[in-house]
Amino acid sequence: MTHRTMRDFLSAVEKKGLLHRIARPVDRMWEPAALVKWMYQALPAERRFGMFFEKVLASDIPIVTAALGANTATYAAALGVEPDGINDAWVKACRNPIPPKVVDKAPCQEVVITGKDVRLSYLPIPVWTPGKDKGAYLTTNTVTRDHDTGIQNMGVYRSMVRDETNVVSNLGPGRNGFVNTLTWTTKGKVAPIAWVIAAPPAVHLATVASLPYGVDEITLAGGVMGEAVNMVKCKTVDLLVPADAEIIIEGEIHPGETDMEGPFGEFAGYMGPVDRRPVVRVTAITHRKNPIYYGYTSQMPPSESTTIQSLTNAGILFNALRNRLGEVSVTDVFIDLTFGGNMGHAIIAMKPTYPAHSKKVGRLVAAMSSVKRVTVVDEDVDIRDHTHIEWAMNSRYNPARDTVLIDDVYVRIDPSARSATSQNTMSSKVVCDATLKVDAGPFSLPPKEIMMKALDLWKEIGLPEFEIPKRAKLRIDRS
Ligand SMILES: Cc1cc2nc3c(=O)[nH]c(=O)nc-3n(C[C@H](O)[C@H](O)[C@H](O)COP(=O)(O)O)c2cc1C
Repeated sequence: MTHRTMRDFLSAVEKKGLLHRIARPVDRMWEPAALVKWMYQALPAERRFGMFFEKVLASDIPIVTAALGANTATYAAALGVEPDGINDAWVKACRNPIPPKVVDKAPCQEVVITGKDVRLSYLPIPVWTPGKDKGAYLTTNTVTRDHDTGIQNMGVYRSMVRDETNVVSNLGPGRNGFVNTLTWTTKGKVAPIAWVIAAPPAVHLATVASLPYGVDEITLAGGVMGEAVNMVKCKTVDLLVPADAEIIIEGEIHPGETDMEGPFGEFAGYMGPVDRRPVVRVTAITHRKNPIYYGYTSQMPPSESTTIQSLTNAGILFNALRNRLGEVSVTDVFIDLTFGGNMGHAIIAMKPTYPAHSKKVGRLVAAMSSVKRVTVVDEDVDIRDHTHIEWAMNSRYNPARDTVLIDDVYVRIDPSARSATSQNTMSSKVVCDATLKVDAGPFSLPPKEIMMKALDLWKEIGLPEFEIPKRAKLRIDRS
């Protein structure tokens, strides 16, 4: 079971040693971000942890970051499963979505601030690339709603604090959140918008799923939790938000009101360009008593953003391939955690059943997702092990025969194509089919029985103990 509140989750990961509290007061303008950058840049994934900054200068509200996406272990804990059960949990959630339940009273509205009392500096919103970002940024779940259908959407769209009551939100063209706001503003109406800070963990992890327009991520979060997410009506705008969240910011987008947004350190590792984006007039801040502020760490990968986006979207893709497209020969999907689920590298394991089946699946993945590279391997490869994938690429992939290049792909954030000053970018995609297509003969390892006898011998001699990696197991099983 996943946790019902962010607080419960934070206590649970703290008990597991996956969350560190920092008691020394910190300056939100640079210290939390710079410290967490060291963690992602210097520590191997298995040694990373969530950071809880208990005291923030000039604020009564603590800041938490990296707790959901420090590594696969914290992500799995947020999802309420073991690390090897992540994809299956998403398949289950996709197949059993649960609509939210509307409640009247909500913890997230224990304190309500509206009108002239609204000041964004009340919240400890951090600067994430100190010395380079334009200012403090909200990096959390955003709620919008389609004017005509009433269906809500959740996504994370970084949003720049412009002043005490206005935010410029990077609602990018084509994004579901942006499309929702257009359904209001093109009719000359004010679009409602809200940010949800420190919601139940399942809501955070579902929010970054790339789902078709018109599918509300909150139903997926319900599927993860196995129960409806409680939602409450906002105080000043007509939207529903998770009742158990710590903090809600409500706002309005007035037709034609835009301003320059950025620069901001993007998840691809470079500073993003400045562009015109919608302005949000903040109409209310509501929160629990003694709230916790949660902000995602992104910028230079790997980061919390790349971890959660990759792990969520791998599960969503796995489900789509098997259960929506009927590609049941696909046995596993992984998206490399070092570059983000949106435009990184997807690795697909499958049991091809007819000639060029693997190429077809690779092309499908390239077309239906935003990933730039797709590698398809046989099911006897551990797709979470770089060395095993490299071996498959070197031994089973013949570049002239097994590569599909897809040209003329518009990608908004591809530093290999976009100049530092422009958003215009035409990139491309590649599918590498590293499944075995010829009979290459038996593996050059002794047969399994000899290897297992040698394992007993290893132990008898007293050589250093080790855990058998999945890569070795898969190979020995076939030897
Ligand atoms: C920390 C963080 C910041 C993000 N910032 C943006 C952003 O500014 N604009 C954007 O289009 N996507 C951004 N994303 C990715 C989207 O949240 C993600 O692709 C989501 O699925 C979009 O929702 P949608 O498909 O419903 O539009 C961000 C993700 C994270 C984790």
